[in-house]
Amino acid sequence: MPAIELRNLTYIYCPGTHYEKKALDDISMEVNVGEFIGIIGSNGSGKSTLIKHLNGLLQPTSGKVVVFGKDAAGQIKDELWKYVSVLFQFPEQQLFEETVYDEIAYGLRNMDITGDAIEVRVKDALEKVGLNFDEFAQYPPLALSGGIRRRIALACAFAMEPKILALDEPTAGLDSSGAKQVLCSIKKIQKEKNTTIIMVSHSLDELLLLADKLAFIDKGKLIAFGDRRQVLKLIYENAENHIVLPDYMRLLFELKKIGNDVNIEIVKYEEAEDEIANLLGETSK
Ligand SMILES: Nc1ncnc2c1ncn2[C@@H]1O[C@H](COP(=O)(O)OP(=O)(O)OP(=O)(O)O)[C@@H](O)[C@H]1O
Ligand SMILES: [Mg+2]
Repeated sequence: MPAIELRNLTYIYCPGTHYEKKALDDISMEVNVGEFIGIIGSNGSGKSTLIKHLNGLLQPTSGKVVVFGKDAAGQIKDELWKYVSVLFQFPEQQLFEETVYDEIAYGLRNMDITGDAIEVRVKDALEKVGLNFDEFAQYPPLALSGGIRRRIALACAFAMEPKILALDEPTAGLDSSGAKQVLCSIKKIQKEKNTTIIMVSHSLDELLLLADKLAFIDKGKLIAFGDRRQVLKLIYENAENHIVLPDYMRLLFELKKIGNDVNIEIVKYEEAEDEIANLLGETSK
């Protein structure tokens, strides 16, 4: 059984008004248990709207969101948050508790977890995002920097130990070491717990490092979904979408376009390096 099925998902904001906007247009895709899906698309393409359907925050205008075989809008709506944790865009703006400990414990208490078990989970979640429990647990979140607050928001999602983790731009605005830390912890969770992960990012470089498959959304439509090589090619061919391809991929596509015999069915930097070395007649490393 897939972890998530989107069946002809369409969402319209403010229907029947002057502000009507079709943000998702007939999107269908299946995500298998344990898969890491990277969602890429330019500003306003509908990525956040899609993420908000995964925990029932938005209900489809038409179509269905099915989580572990059950309609998210139906029987398990109230239970959905036990399966799915969502890290919204700019989550650091949503922290409200007096201490970091309470912030992370909040969701756990709602799950009827009590006493020592809470502390174990809070500690573990903080460790996963690279923060020391003794140093941070009693700190007021609002007194911390934006980057640390982002990591705390991520720790809140990790602590729930969800089967599905949906992350909307988890590294936006972080410096490169903060981003690296966050990405490593996300990948670790997928590997250790077989968590299904859906991650929105503006950075293809980032998604190519982590994701098993890519979904490319443009103006609310799913243009491509699946194998990363195929999706990259479609992104290149839809140049007007403003998505920045990694430099090495752009170079390969351009070389191919002007008639060079290079293999563009690759995704990694090292593979691109080999291709270019071959083209130049050099022996690759
Ligand atoms: N609450 C709302 N009311 C009306 N229109 C909205 C609302 N939220 C989003 N939209 C519109 O729906 C479309 C999709 O928005 P969404 O936030 O899902 O895009 P996004 O891909 O996440 O963009 P970004 O990359 O900027 O985060 C956009 O045109 C946006 O202006
Ligand atoms: Mg968004």
